[in-house]
Amino acid sequence: MRAVSIFCAMEQKNVSPALSSLDQATSAEARSESRRETVFSGMQPSGGFHIGNYLGAVRDWVALQEQHHCFYCIVDLHALTQPYSPTEMPSRVLDMAVELLACGIDPERSTLFVQSHVPEHTELAWILSTVAPFGELSRMTQFKEKGDRAEYINCGLFTYPVLMAADILLYKATRVPVGEDQIQHLELAREIVRRFNARFGEPALFPEPLPLHRTPLRIMGLDGKTKMSKSLGNYVAISDEPDVIRKKIGSAFTDELRLRKKDPGHPESCYVCGLEPFFMQPEQVTELQEGCRSARIGCVDSKRALAEAMIAKLKPIQDRKAQLLSKPGFVEEVLRSGAAQARKVAKATVSEVRDRLGLFPMGHSASV
Ligand code: TRP
Repeated sequence: MRAVSIFCAMEQKNVSPALSSLDQATSAEARSESRRETVFSGMQPSGGFHIGNYLGAVRDWVALQEQHHCFYCIVDLHALTQPYSPTEMPSRVLDMAVELLACGIDPERSTLFVQSHVPEHTELAWILSTVAPFGELSRMTQFKEKGDRAEYINCGLFTYPVLMAADILLYKATRVPVGEDQIQHLELAREIVRRFNARFGEPALFPEPLPLHRTPLRIMGLDGKTKMSKSLGNYVAISDEPDVIRKKIGSAFTDELRLRKKDPGHPESCYVCGLEPFFMQPEQVTELQEGCRSARIGCVDSKRALAEAMIAKLKPIQDRKAQLLSKPGFVEEVLRSGAAQARKVAKATVSEVRDRLGLFPMGHSASV
């Protein structure tokens, strides 16, 4: 892991190192308006974040707005493909929106909205399903995995990647920051673009969206054994109180080979040491890790230092969240205006698509 200042939420000038490849790829001109890319990404409304979500995705979203035109979407329609509770859905969406804003998504620069507020997503998804290749859809790894686990397999689980393609194409996005597990879906979206353009193009209507690879980052859970996940309960939430963080980090997994404090530690294979670079300055990490290796400090000391560093890094986000929550209706208004902005673009695209498909035009007097 690299020793970098990760929490750029409040320091939006820092472009995350995970995205530096894009900067290089787009060269010196990248900063000029003409080379600004349109970025689209979506996240399922799972409520608040844990630090794994933050380090693995949200901080990249925040960094990308520095330079690009970004659409960030809370994909509630995708979430319907999994069993869920309708009564909990609204708060899952709202909590996610609040935390995205608290982490630094800036509605003045990015369009943050809820997928189901822009009905063109479903309209385009249907249209794209008529060009999407069935064979390739049935080879999607995530479909096979989810299908194996599901009690019954709904069609939405199968056409999930088509809706994802519609999300991206509505905004003619050229770059899509996604994790490893979504690369196959993005390839399918590119295939759909090629087929659509081949059949209805000239000039091509859609650009082929490129993935924006993040540094593969698997933040492990506090058990040190599996990926950090809400359902496994092995996480530190962005909104955890200081005492909760102290307790959670206090019981985290450390170096199995270090039984007593006087045994020398192995920071490279220790979970707690592995997290340090994400929350501390490089000098502090070096000092702690040397202390661990020479048995000058024990695991309890390392855990304390990590917990305090985490608490300090999360505080600005938590303060900002409290501020957002103290303004009734503010976040709802951000989402409303985000949906209105998104819809303008989405409507224009759908109108072009209808035209290309040869759908009979609606009379001028008809209001849509
Ligand atoms: N399927 C993505 C995930 O689960 C979420 C998503 C939906 C998405 N639509 C998208 C991501 C469009 C990128 C672009 O992570």
